[in-house]
Amino acid sequence: MPEFLRIANISDVPPGTGKEVTVGDRVLAVYNIDGTFHVIDGICPHAGGPLGEGALQGCIITCPWHGWQFDVTTGQHCLTPQIRQAQFACRVEGENVMIELPDE
Ligand code: FES
Repeated sequence: MPEFLRIANISDVPPGTGKEVTVGDRVLAVYNIDGTFHVIDGICPHAGGPLGEGALQGCIITCPWHGWQFDVTTGQHCLTPQIRQAQFACRVEGENVMIELPDE
């Protein structure tokens, strides 16, 4: 059975927004796209920018540091097929956004 961990309250991430969260030593970015939550690795692979603090338009997040863009529903970089952020399975339980803990 996969283990799920609470990372946020649903009210912390209103529709159309994102938020950076920390789980242990991992930085994640959680986004709410029309009521559906998506979680990806929150560290931009370009130079370590905080993807959870970027501007979200539709399902595209723009890194606040230099503008790399990713589809938050897949983790896919918008221009470079070889770059994809890790994605985390998530679900909502009551008021809580939960992620499936990755195997270390
Ligand atoms: S650190 Fe994200 S675009 Fe440079």
